[in-house]
Amino acid sequence: MMKVNQLLGFSAVLSATSALECSPSAIQAALPSNATVNFAQALPANSTFEVPKSDTGYPGSPIGLPALCAVSIQVKSIGNSTFGLGLFLPDDWNGRFLAVGNGGFAGGINWLDMAPGVRYGFATMSTDTGHNSSTIDGSWAYQQPEKIENWGHLAMHGSTVVAKTVIPAYYSQEISFNYYAGCSTGGRQGLKEAELYPDDFDGIVAGAPAWWTSHLQPWTIKVASYNLPTSADYHIPPSLFGVVQKEVMRQCDSQDGVKDGIISSPDTCSFRPEDLLCGESPTNSTDCLTAPQISTLYKLYSDFVGENQTFFYPHLNLGTESQWRIHLASDAPNPLGTGYPQFFMGFGADWRWQDFNEDVQRLADRTDPGNASVKFDLSSFHAKGGKIISYHGMIDAHIPTNSLKYFYNQVDRTLKPLGVDVDSFFRAFFVPGMAHCAGTDVDAPWYFAGPNQAGQLGPTVHGVPGFEDRDHDVLLALLAWVEEGVKPEKIVGTKYVNETLHSEVLRQRPLCMYPKQARYVGNGDVNDAESWTCKYPYE
Ligand SMILES: *[C@@H]1O[C@H](CO)[C@@H](O)[C@H](O)[C@H]1NC(C)=O
Ligand SMILES: *[C@@H]1O[C@H](CO)[C@@H](O)[C@H](O)[C@H]1NC(C)=O
Ligand SMILES: *[C@@H]1O[C@H](CO)[C@@H](O)[C@H](O)[C@H]1NC(C)=O
Ligand SMILES: *[C@@H]1O[C@H](CO)[C@@H](O)[C@H](O)[C@H]1NC(C)=O
Ligand SMILES: *[C@@H]1O[C@H](CO)[C@@H](O)[C@H](O)[C@H]1NC(C)=O
Ligand SMILES: *[C@@H]1O[C@H](CO)[C@@H](O)[C@H](O)[C@H]1NC(C)=O
Ligand SMILES: *[C@@H]1O[C@H](CO)[C@@H](O)[C@H](O)[C@H]1NC(C)=O
Ligand SMILES: *[C@@H]1O[C@H](CO)[C@@H](O)[C@H](O)[C@H]1NC(C)=O
Repeated sequence: MMKVNQLLGFSAVLSATSALECSPSAIQAALPSNATVNFAQALPANSTFEVPKSDTGYPGSPIGLPALCAVSIQVKSIGNSTFGLGLFLPDDWNGRFLAVGNGGFAGGINWLDMAPGVRYGFATMSTDTGHNSSTIDGSWAYQQPEKIENWGHLAMHGSTVVAKTVIPAYYSQEISFNYYAGCSTGGRQGLKEAELYPDDFDGIVAGAPAWWTSHLQPWTIKVASYNLPTSADYHIPPSLFGVVQKEVMRQCDSQDGVKDGIISSPDTCSFRPEDLLCGESPTNSTDCLTAPQISTLYKLYSDFVGENQTFFYPHLNLGTESQWRIHLASDAPNPLGTGYPQFFMGFGADWRWQDFNEDVQRLADRTDPGNASVKFDLSSFHAKGGKIISYHGMIDAHIPTNSLKYFYNQVDRTLKPLGVDVDSFFRAFFVPGMAHCAGTDVDAPWYFAGPNQAGQLGPTVHGVPGFEDRDHDVLLALLAWVEEGVKPEKIVGTKYVNETLHSEVLRQRPLCMYPKQARYVGNGDVNDAESWTCKYPYE
């Protein structure tokens, strides 16, 4: 197995032997008095870590692990609340710390996502955020402000502090660098760390960040309401989503210079929904839309804007139609929306989505339960030399792509007047054809070893098989930026012919640093990354 130090081309002292034994009493001795070891257990190479049954958020057990010490710790937090964290401490340590993130409202130690990290050699940590629940279940938050605050930011920070106490004691060696990688809620957790706790990490990968909790959750209700009730004449049934997608593809695909099923620049496509209108007596009414349904399309592709032109949330991208079932296939909004007023804002389980209005959105904005939403002033993180790589899939319907664009631009607005060049420490990359955090259904080059991605290739995968370098692997790109000052201008995405075999490559393409976009140079194999260049839209 290639180690991170070799990949970066420099040697570092690797610790092969630990100073502490992997036992509850030895780990306990390294902990502050507010933390208690649940278990500490040495696993030989190629073990399976059996996830405890109570970990309902992340029940999957990682297999084929390198030799390591698996630790679970409970920490006392505010009030009577606690949070837990898990650690994988590999025998063959690369000297670095990596924290991974969570998803949705889920509570649980994400042992599965810790596995790729420990395969690189990182001492890897995940927090349960202070509760146990599935991704879409927010009921734990009802009248529990302390639990919400733990989920919002306290548990990630507190778990990081504990991990950074245990790791040097365990190896009897200082940690060289501290990293974070998470997607979705995990992306939010990373940006929140940069905002509030700039000393925790040197580098952060924040994928598809759910950074604007107080607006994303209300939008989740709003967007579903456009297509409800299912009995309305304007309702677009899921059986027509593919019809809409086909038309969007017809009108928008070739705008990036190549007709390949991948829309790279949805915002510059002037899509005309009326081309989908049914005629007087349609021969086939399952491949066209009525005038009221066309009106629904306009809403879906429009920003959520309130009274006095107040911007609340960006629209669904053109090209997201294959992902619309997340929000638009049921007779009610996704529980990630409804659960927010019910449980986080305290309206109760009986609150109905039909009662959603702008006042609910404005109240959410004012109260921001758990301080979960990320603010734009990242100047402390910049000042201490921290680096952030963020990215977002362009067919993500869970969290509209432009929410990252908005965040990046707002950070720029906040920091440029302070004399800070945002690209000197925070870079955003948009991934044409990628869905939420991972995957594609248009054969787009979506894989770059981002958080949550490796598991899609196989249970023992880490990095980018066949391309274990900083040009193709976003985590290695971050390490190179933090440790060697190599600024990432682009990251090459990979699409394998068959993901689970991941031997043969179908296509590779650069993912460009925003606001640049990948453009075909006009000759050469379109499936070869070398045939593409990163250009400003106006170039
Ligand atoms: C690892 O374990 C699996 C099953 O637990 C076994 O099939 C495989 O041969 C083992 N690999 C090595 C390298 O020991
Ligand atoms: C969640 O489950 C873990 C075991 O995975 C347990 O140790 C912890 O006490 C539970 N947390 C809560 C808040 O119930
Ligand atoms: C636990 O105690 C340590 C040492 O006093 C302190 O630094 C840390 O902030 C505490 N953690 C929490 C979550 O209160
Ligand atoms: C902890 O406190 C909350 C309110 O602050 C209360 O609802 C809950 O029942 C308490 N839990 C325990 C185990 O005492
Ligand atoms: C009607 O259009 C749909 C969607 O394009 C297609 O799947 C179906 O086969 C068509 N039916 C007929 C009778 O042409
Ligand atoms: C919109 O603007 C008008 C005029 O300034 C103001 O009276 C009103 O309160 C504003 N509405 C909201 C929701 O802020
Ligand atoms: C969290 O929110 C509360 C209530 O709005 C506020 O008093 C507190 O300062 C916030 N804490 C942080 C860290 O933002
Ligand atoms: C990929 O390869 C695996 C293993 O050979 C096979 O089971 C699977 O069907 C293949 N997937 C596709 C989409 O061809």
